[in-house]
Amino acid sequence: MSDEIFSIDLKAQYLSIQPEVDAAIARVFASGQFILGAEVEAFEREFAEACGVSHAVGVDSGTSAIQLSLLACSVGAGDEVITVSNTAVATVTAIELTGAKPVLVDVHPQTLTLDPSKLEGSLTSRTRAVVPVHLFGCPADLNPILDFARTHGLFVVEDCAQAHGATYHGKPVGGWGHLSAFSFYPTKNLGAYGDGGAVLTNDSALAERVRLLRQYGWDGNRISQQKGMNTRLDEMQAAILRVKLRHLDQWNDRRRELAALYKSLLMPLVFSEANPPKKRERLTLPVEPPETHHVYHQFVVRHPQRDALRNYLLEHGIHTQIHYPVPIHLQPAYRDLAVPLPVTESAADQILSLPLYPELRNEDVEKVCQTIHNFDS
Ligand SMILES: Cc1ncc(COP(=O)(O)O)c(C=O)c1O
Repeated sequence: MSDEIFSIDLKAQYLSIQPEVDAAIARVFASGQFILGAEVEAFEREFAEACGVSHAVGVDSGTSAIQLSLLACSVGAGDEVITVSNTAVATVTAIELTGAKPVLVDVHPQTLTLDPSKLEGSLTSRTRAVVPVHLFGCPADLNPILDFARTHGLFVVEDCAQAHGATYHGKPVGGWGHLSAFSFYPTKNLGAYGDGGAVLTNDSALAERVRLLRQYGWDGNRISQQKGMNTRLDEMQAAILRVKLRHLDQWNDRRRELAALYKSLLMPLVFSEANPPKKRERLTLPVEPPETHHVYHQFVVRHPQRDALRNYLLEHGIHTQIHYPVPIHLQPAYRDLAVPLPVTESAADQILSLPLYPELRNEDVEKVCQTIHNFDS
């Protein structure tokens, strides 16, 4: 057996639930129904219930989920949508697909999620919506964002692609904004075996608009009542997601357990009053604001010598990732969106995602931490 430690191991997760997944796939094959059937309907019901939201609409990706959510709010050409640059490029792609212009704001230095104090400065007469991203599994600070949106008559679409099962003030993310978008990309906390996504909302009229947009604007008689597109979730992915949804809480608990182990073992490397600065005390650990239940989609530390640390870990068989190496506004395709975002830019040089997935063993975390201690001593 390899003693390398990988960032994620989707095969290990499949093996842990193989009989359930195989039975679900066999059920779909036997049904002869592959698009928008009983599995999608059941998954939509079950996922909405798990998130404490009235309606879920299954779609083909998280990107489509954001795009359709904004289109359902009639966001389009000439409008502006505020979001962060410190996110997956898909958040910005989805806004641009509506015809609207993404306006990027900086993130909070501790949580690296949207800094609500930066909203006012980005507001114009064209602003129509805000898309906060619950990055790495940590809910964005929704209350001040929602207050701002209410004051200025804006829609809020939560990007929940990395935060299935996270809560803010005890209530799941996904039910706070007007709509919310989830991705079921295979590496997500709740991942399909292909692409998938969902839009959640408590507003039945918005849910109906998303349903129409998802499939050519068709009504029950397959007559297009409005212009739409094809962004359907398929039966196979829905059946697989129904199996995995049953394990989500337990997997998130395990992610939190591993995150706690990382924190306890890495804490001695963190500068604090009780632990005055030495050469090695330069590590920053992810924070979990008290009003949140973080689900650690990623465990992201910061280190001023990130690249050297990353190479050192790799020399010792430990794979890591960087989410995200280049903030969106500094990527060639998005130079037109460039504004100075100092917190985002300085974080990008220091962030490092350590291995974290539910099947990771405690001894793997211990080895990663010991190697970081060795690097820093
Ligand atoms: C924060 C964020 N938003 C949106 C998306 C888009 O999801 P998808 O890849 O399913 O289109 C992702 C996933 O890549 C993501 O991490």
